[in-house]
Amino acid sequence: MESTPSPTVATPETGLTPAEVGRLRADFPLLTQTPGLVYLDSGATSQKPRCVFEAEQHYYERANAAVHRGAHSLAVEATDQYEAARTAVARFIGADDDELVWTSNATEALNLIAYACSNASAGRGGEAAERFRLGPGDEIVVTEQEHHANLIPWQELAFRTGATLTYIPVTTDGALQVDRLEDVVTERTRILAFTHVSNVLGTITDVAAFVARARAVGALTVLDGCQSVPHLPVDVKALDVDFMAFSGHKMLGPTGIGALYGRRELLNAMPPFLTGGSMITTVTMERAEFLPAPNRFEAGTQRIAQTIGLAAAVGYLDEVGMDRVAAWEEHLGARMAAGLAGIDGVRLIGPAGVERIGTATFAVEGVHPHDVGQFLDSRGVAVRVGHHCAQPLHRTLGVTATTRASTYLYNTEDDVDALLSAVADVRGFFGVTP
Ligand SMILES: Cc1ncc(COP(=O)(O)O)c(C=O)c1O
Repeated sequence: MESTPSPTVATPETGLTPAEVGRLRADFPLLTQTPGLVYLDSGATSQKPRCVFEAEQHYYERANAAVHRGAHSLAVEATDQYEAARTAVARFIGADDDELVWTSNATEALNLIAYACSNASAGRGGEAAERFRLGPGDEIVVTEQEHHANLIPWQELAFRTGATLTYIPVTTDGALQVDRLEDVVTERTRILAFTHVSNVLGTITDVAAFVARARAVGALTVLDGCQSVPHLPVDVKALDVDFMAFSGHKMLGPTGIGALYGRRELLNAMPPFLTGGSMITTVTMERAEFLPAPNRFEAGTQRIAQTIGLAAAVGYLDEVGMDRVAAWEEHLGARMAAGLAGIDGVRLIGPAGVERIGTATFAVEGVHPHDVGQFLDSRGVAVRVGHHCAQPLHRTLGVTATTRASTYLYNTEDDVDALLSAVADVRGFFGVTP
């Protein structure tokens, strides 16, 4: 007789087992110390395992000193830990050490490229920086589903240089119109900036199609990895992008730390954005020579403890295995989507039948998302409501705001069921009748 698989056995579809997730949760003090909390807002920021703040605490207690400066042993130890963190995080995304620049978050990483292009456009960086010089007639292409962090820096760059900003549109149900790449990305396109995973819909972009089109016209590719690096195995070399930005706080790491990946030859040709101490070789009263990447982009005293915390976070994720994290979240996402689709008056937002991470965005007919969020909160379920820093996408979807539930490796099937049961009660609570 065929046996039914035990629910505690991981299958390739689920990646982790519920029992493993239960054990993982014990590593997250906020989850264990907040009875009744169903945290479904990891798309905004993730919870952190104990090893992350222990790593930071250990650094402050044993090795705190300014890096790349002092001649004393403590400074050497701090520098070693700081650079070891870089190696760990670079390896996590398949990059080499000198291709990973620390920033405070993804927003700063994206602005770094935009301002470096501005500086090149003003003539800084000489011939080597020609690749980054923009002017009237040049085009920057984004998509209509971008987070404001990967839209406004490009709008501003266009204003500063006279370049034109265009975009790949989405349909009114939120599908990215990849077939528009051919006509929107042209010989005039210099930069193609796009998100790997939509922070609103959780949908995964066909990176290969974007990279192929950018290569065909000689444009630089900038990938926003904010919602992919925490949830999927990501290898920048396999993706073949020129740049990628991501934030530590969304991937179990501390706030205040993010990173920019860039191909070595591009980073070394790009003029710096922030200038000051620690990023130079020689300075006179008239001018300065800059260090090679990554240091040329790390002016001033850095976020040392946060890099060490982020290294602990990627160590944790590596130990679990990103393929298993992705499979578990996909499993939870499918459970959420199926459950939400079965609730009267609830509309799932986004295209059907496409690959996505464990995120579900929805609208409850007759109830404002902020009321939905407050009601869910009264039931212990933490979700995000609003435009999720993607106003243009919401405009195209025909809504001003939505409710987003986003999972991570520590979420359980019970979390999903708690969300579903609370959502099922929303319309009744607000007296909305079918
Ligand atoms: C897709 C995407 N890009 C960029 C960002 C900006 O990240 P941060 O605020 O950490 O800079 C976010 C944050 O929500 C995001 O989801």
